[in-house]
Amino acid sequence: MAAASDLPEGTIQNVLEQESLKWVFVGGKGGVGKTTCSSILSILLSRVRSSVLIISTDPAHNLSDAFQQKFTKTPTLVNGFTNLYAMEVDPTVEHEDMSGSDGMDNLFSDLANAIPGIDEAMSFAEMLKLVQTMDYSVIVFDTAPTGHTLRLLQFPSTLEKGLAKVMSLKNKFGGLMTQMTSLFGVGDEFGEDAILGKLEGMKDVIEQVNQQFKDPDLTTFVCVCIPEFLSLYETERLVQELTKFEIDTHNIIINQVLYDEEGTESKLLKARMRMQQKYLDQFYMLYDDFNITKLPLLPEEVTGVDALKAFSCHFLTPYQPSTSKGTVEELEQRVLTLRQQLKDAETEQERLRKGKQKV
Ligand SMILES: Nc1ncnc2c1ncn2[C@@H]1O[C@H](COP(=O)(O)OP(=O)(O)O)[C@@H](O)[C@H]1O
Ligand SMILES: [Mg+2]
Repeated sequence: MAAASDLPEGTIQNVLEQESLKWVFVGGKGGVGKTTCSSILSILLSRVRSSVLIISTDPAHNLSDAFQQKFTKTPTLVNGFTNLYAMEVDPTVEHEDMSGSDGMDNLFSDLANAIPGIDEAMSFAEMLKLVQTMDYSVIVFDTAPTGHTLRLLQFPSTLEKGLAKVMSLKNKFGGLMTQMTSLFGVGDEFGEDAILGKLEGMKDVIEQVNQQFKDPDLTTFVCVCIPEFLSLYETERLVQELTKFEIDTHNIIINQVLYDEEGTESKLLKARMRMQQKYLDQFYMLYDDFNITKLPLLPEEVTGVDALKAFSCHFLTPYQPSTSKGTVEELEQRVLTLRQQLKDAETEQERLRKGKQKV
């Protein structure tokens, strides 16, 4: 058997080529490079798709940092692009959007407390409803750290439970809820039927979206990690949970990999490289049916569109460490130029073919 390190290197090209994809989730532990990777993925997708939206659902928003541009909860065109939009949403609910008075606020927070995750579920559903009407070719999610993301994917069952709870409350207390709401001075539009209606409406959206999330033609989850024990462990947990929820995943990006390009003498670096190699081998062994993309740890942060674009080459061609740095960069540039030439030739061919058909 070949050593793990001899196996052919993967890239993220498969995601760019899968034209049917509508939802691309990017997730993993905090600080591993989710925002960097999802931003680059959205830039690369914008080259092959008509329109791309990147959404951050991580409360610690940093799309604004990555692109060095302020984003809000409405999609904004990213500077320097014509078809790439970004938005940052807060996964915690805004109660004032759904209630009309203090009385209803109490009722809602009671409901929210009774069913953990229901408030998030509702605001996520609202967001998905909005995004679905906007007709983007593909939507990339820069998700929050693992636990949080998995909760988002459990929403249909959370809502199901919410509905059951409201129904049982309704049956149990009969008209009491209606009396309560009228006591608080709120009309029918905020009564229990309205809540029920709202929950049911959300359930439709969530069910529809959930069906799409479970369709590997439409949805995939890209796991980002680093070659360390905790990250390997979290990735395994993530992959297992995704399998449980029937959500496709077949890409792992291993970020912050150290390469000994200058034949380092540093004991610390050498030790860390050995440690990384141990976990890299384990990743390749555990996920031999995945596309594994390795990204080098850079001396500097990856912020701003230029830095993101420069780093994006490692998503397309496997990183080739070399003792001579100049040569690698030259080679990469040559590959990129060749790729562009090939693309231009294809476009030209397509144009000619279409022209011919018309004649
Ligand atoms: N391969 C890398 N080399 C150097 N810096 C990196 C690399 N990947 C990410 N970074 C930097 O590390 C920080 C955390 O990355 P980020 O993508 O925000 O992680 P996450 O979204 O998972 O919390 C950012 O400042 C980013 O620029
Ligand atoms: Mg982030």
